[in-house]
Amino acid sequence: MFENLQQQKPDAILTLVQMFRDDRRCDKIDLGVGVYKDSSGNTPVMRSVKAAEQKLWELETTKSYVALTGDPAFSDSMVSLVLGDAVPAASVSAAATPGGTGAVRQAFELVKMARPSARVFVSNPTWPNHLSILEYLGMEKVLYRYFDNETCGVDFNGLIADLKTAHKGDLVLLHGCCHNPTGANLTMLQWQELIAVLQETGAVPMIDIAYQGFGDGLEEDAAATRAVAAAVPECLIAASCSKNFGIYRERTGILMMIANDTETKVAQGTLAFLNRQNFSFPPDHGARLVTMILNDTHLRADWAVELEEIRLSMLALRQQLAKELQERGGSDRFAFIAQHRGMFSRLGTTPAVVQKLRDEHSIYMVGDSRMNIAGLNSRTVPILAQAIITSCL
Ligand code: LMR
Repeated sequence: MFENLQQQKPDAILTLVQMFRDDRRCDKIDLGVGVYKDSSGNTPVMRSVKAAEQKLWELETTKSYVALTGDPAFSDSMVSLVLGDAVPAASVSAAATPGGTGAVRQAFELVKMARPSARVFVSNPTWPNHLSILEYLGMEKVLYRYFDNETCGVDFNGLIADLKTAHKGDLVLLHGCCHNPTGANLTMLQWQELIAVLQETGAVPMIDIAYQGFGDGLEEDAAATRAVAAAVPECLIAASCSKNFGIYRERTGILMMIANDTETKVAQGTLAFLNRQNFSFPPDHGARLVTMILNDTHLRADWAVELEEIRLSMLALRQQLAKELQERGGSDRFAFIAQHRGMFSRLGTTPAVVQKLRDEHSIYMVGDSRMNIAGLNSRTVPILAQAIITSCL
């Protein structure tokens, strides 16, 4: 049986993690996988998470199963964090999932189940795992223009023109904030235009929001998701707690579904069914910590403060890098880095430059020139800036 298995295409981001580990040079810089690192290169457990874990250890009396779609208190807390009061609570069904990726996977399966012929519109580029999961599920994908290589901003006219070709019954995958891999994002005015296209075509939006709080702030980063959800009758939202709670390995995510089924509750039942088929009960530990933090005034305030510190530190690194590049290169070519938001920026350089950075300067970024800003610190920014200028010559 197993002789029929074939070698799978390696995941570009995870391959890079291994390459970095294998590199013996001591001055190497990791700008690969999307994990936050502080100025000493550590990925700390957030204070509020530690405090919640301690409390949980004291209070938890059982590890018995919770529910197929997770603890309703987790769903309520996350729906409120992401959607605020943009839509009536009764129209939202939700299921906890193993991380944001689990939510993405469940969402695609749900669409496949509801409408096997649905085409999925994805930004060009998008997070590679979006494409990989769609391919694995045999779902048709259509790339819509997103990144303008000249400006390193959004090709908004291209995006609108391409999304106008979507039909009722298609799915449009959007990044709620902090676009991965580019760091280039729409303005709220542009989101409004995009929403009008969704309304015109009747295509269903799916929003992947994995970096709420890493861009312009917790509320600001949710604004687009809320505007879309409030404007259309049906919507899917895959949210991750990996980054903004720093609980990557706990696998904590949630799939939300806005549908017109307040009476029948088919949506909630389908989410439970899909969880049961794929993994049965979702992981609980991370979800419980998030619920505790969001519902405790003190823990929540401390979490928000620490998250804001993280956001501002990444913003400062962006500004420092743009400035260093400007000074060393004598041009504004890389000024967009300070405008981008979130963890990533796509430099817009060739794979040859990316390779040169790796081979000659031991700087690791993804092959499409995506760099993780949080992999830098004030000491390594000038090193990177010089290496970029040298490698681009
Ligand atoms: C990334 O894009 O680097 C992160 O979302 C981690 C991952 O799983 O790829």
